[in-house]
Amino acid sequence: MPHVISFINLKGGVAKTTTAVQLADTLAFMKRKRVLVLDLDPQTNATLALIGEERWEQADERGQTLAHLFLDLLGGTRSFSPERAIVRGASNLNTIPADMIDQLPEDVQYGRVDVLPSSIRLIDVQDRMQDIAARTNYSLSPMAVVQKYVGPLFGRYDYVLIDCPPNLGFITQNGLEVSDHYLIPTIPDRMSTYGIPQIAGKIDELRRDRNLRIRCLGVVVTKFQSNSSQHKQGLARLPGDLKAAFAYTNEDTPPILQTVMPQTNASAEATVFEREVKNYPVKYGTGLVGGQAAYKYGLDLAAEVQALLGDEE
Ligand SMILES: Nc1ncnc2c1ncn2[C@@H]1O[C@H](COP(=O)(O)OP(=O)(O)OP(=O)(O)O)[C@@H](O)[C@H]1O
Ligand SMILES: [Mg+2]
Repeated sequence: MPHVISFINLKGGVAKTTTAVQLADTLAFMKRKRVLVLDLDPQTNATLALIGEERWEQADERGQTLAHLFLDLLGGTRSFSPERAIVRGASNLNTIPADMIDQLPEDVQYGRVDVLPSSIRLIDVQDRMQDIAARTNYSLSPMAVVQKYVGPLFGRYDYVLIDCPPNLGFITQNGLEVSDHYLIPTIPDRMSTYGIPQIAGKIDELRRDRNLRIRCLGVVVTKFQSNSSQHKQGLARLPGDLKAAFAYTNEDTPPILQTVMPQTNASAEATVFEREVKNYPVKYGTGLVGGQAAYKYGLDLAAEVQALLGDEE
């Protein structure tokens, strides 16, 4: 079964999407894993980073985004089919033509990223999620929609990475419901770490109330500026903050990943799908940051995540 990981932080702009996309690229193209990215954020950033605007527009017009899954339930329509909605062979690092990917047998080990796209239409869905229960004669919880309709496809993948919006609303909860783990990307400053106790508490509550298996895999420090005293202090404060945040939950204090993702132009540019990139090092930067090439941080992060999950090579 795949490792299913949600990327969560209540703070916007802390590199949830950038980290999720880079991890997807790394696992797929450097570690030959089969990766599915689920985009649950109406901002559609992960979708655009992985398939670009043109393919996203096609998916949206055909009614094949995760927003349409919810809209079907709310409006009694039948447009979304997970099988049709999955965009195969995503990422500008992919070199296998999409029609060929469809023909390869499932048991062939080759790295790839598939995407279940999001849509801006998820904004309309957000406020109406409660109605799903009534619309389905209380046979389906608004938190269990993704589980029911998309969960059955997870078995084809080694990793399912879920990019969440910066809140813990019903749509995010759909991601938590199917996840084994959540990762908290954070900039090491007060504003970005402020919500961690709320995340830990809310997920603890959901784990109990909804009988979920999800646990925190760790905290990954992002956009680190080694010349910033605020960041250095924030990094030093983080272990204590994290201990306090998880003190009243039913789980141990999660680890802070040793890999600290530095602030680099390459990371910021890596989510521009339309950029031409020859290979992984070029995409994630060959310039030196803190003594090693920028792209190596992505490799370190993936190796650490794999080690935490017991997915050793
Ligand atoms: N390591 C990095 N170095 C420099 N810029 C970065 C880095 N990681 C992310 N960024 C930039 O920071 C901004 C926020 O990143 P991103 O969209 O990944 O955050 P997010 O947490 O997903 O935000 P949201 O909550 O809005 O979904 C983007 O402009 C992105 O390009
Ligand atoms: Mg995002």
